[in-house]
Amino acid sequence: MTGVRLTPALSARWDEPDSFTLEGYRRDGGYRALPKALAMPPDQVIQTLKDSVLRGRGGAGFPTGVKWGFIPQGDGKPHYLVVNADESEPGACKDVPTLLNNPQALIEGIVIAAYAIRAHLAFVYIRGEVLHVIRRLHHAVAEAREAGYLGRDILGSGFDLEVVVHAGAGAYICGEETALLDSLEGYRGQPRLKPPFPATSGLYACPTVVNNVESIASVPWILLHGAEDFASLGTQKSTGFGLFQLSGHVTTPGQYEAPLGTTLRQLLDLAGGIRAGHRLKFWTPGGSSTPLFTDEHLDVPLDYEDVAAAGSLLGTRSIQLFDETTCVVRVVLRWAEFYRHESCGKCTPCREGSYWVVQVLERLEAGEGSEADLDKLLDICSNITGRAFCALGDSIEPSVKSSITFFRDEYLEHLRYGGCPFDPSASTLFTLESAR
Ligand SMILES: Cc1cc2nc3c(=O)[nH]c(=O)nc-3n(C[C@H](O)[C@H](O)[C@H](O)COP(=O)(O)O)c2cc1C
Ligand code: SF4
Repeated sequence: MTGVRLTPALSARWDEPDSFTLEGYRRDGGYRALPKALAMPPDQVIQTLKDSVLRGRGGAGFPTGVKWGFIPQGDGKPHYLVVNADESEPGACKDVPTLLNNPQALIEGIVIAAYAIRAHLAFVYIRGEVLHVIRRLHHAVAEAREAGYLGRDILGSGFDLEVVVHAGAGAYICGEETALLDSLEGYRGQPRLKPPFPATSGLYACPTVVNNVESIASVPWILLHGAEDFASLGTQKSTGFGLFQLSGHVTTPGQYEAPLGTTLRQLLDLAGGIRAGHRLKFWTPGGSSTPLFTDEHLDVPLDYEDVAAAGSLLGTRSIQLFDETTCVVRVVLRWAEFYRHESCGKCTPCREGSYWVVQVLERLEAGEGSEADLDKLLDICSNITGRAFCALGDSIEPSVKSSITFFRDEYLEHLRYGGCPFDPSASTLFTLESAR
């Protein structure tokens, strides 16, 4: 072992049979942070979040307390809190389990966050496909309301809050915060021009905070244990714990809650390593929109700064692992197909570029292209990145470019071989017999 230290906070109770109930949550110390927060002036709650240096867990890592501090006060407008539960990037699987197993942590976090930003209406925007999670969340909101944690005069504090659970139709772009707000307002989900930012002109053109599920669910822990305890975990600039999600060719896939700065080597120790008899070939530190890493990067501390210094992004800590049986061209093609499918079509670089990236990758994977296609791919990608209207467009290039950097010869091997030199069945995690 290499000094692995798990810090189960949000995931501490997932194994308990009633982890999702109000009773189970309270038994394990739930709703102890709320009275503490309600006894503080709202600005002090914001300062506590600033002191904790919690960085948004939805991907970009923007400091949560700073975001809350942007909400103008005394402006006479309603303020809104919107929780982003649209999780759907390939490899991302932390918010759905959090909502399934510990929805009350999110609700307690919502009440504290809404109190801090002076909002009296909060929304949870959740993707419509996860019906079982939506039902559980509805149930959790009803339980919390019944117990006086939501509604009028919460715990006798004079603070009122209602929570609306809104199911989206299931579009990756609706995870982008401004597209989410358009969708929530009943329009087609497409990104808005920024500025103005949601903090000043968000839902119904009013000041709005949009935060990820994990960000808000971490808030009760911070209030209860203190900003200092949170900041003492992780690294100086990437504080606290986070859910690292391991999927793919790993012995025990799942969510591992550990301090930011933990390395993949340490996480693999916990997860039983790469599947037996195989070796790590490449992986994503932060989901399909982040540049690939290889086995050279096993000891990179998984925090925002170190991952960036090593050439990738921490993103949502969605770690997808691939062993030597996997064709990197095929994987990158699948991701490109995802982005093409999910492109909302609003801007030309992404709408047209994603289509062309898929065309060229399909040709290369079939061994029908030429070496010049690699330059063409890079050229198309460079015309999307930085020119697209939102970050979905910018998500296409990283895997393409890094795969060519690390595995250029594998692309060329397809051309020499006249097709894919890999046996796709070797990389599947099931046999035909087990699927029957
Ligand atoms: C295409 C796209 C999809 C996104 N999907 C999600 C998502 O599913 N959940 C999420 O929290 N953030 C998602 N984001 C990031 C949000 O725009 C926003 O930054 C985030 O919800 C802010 O929360 P945080 O500050 O707590 O991280 C997405 C961004 C883009 C560009
Ligand atoms: S980058 Fe893609 S998803 Fe974003 S606005 Fe343009 S077309 Fe839509």
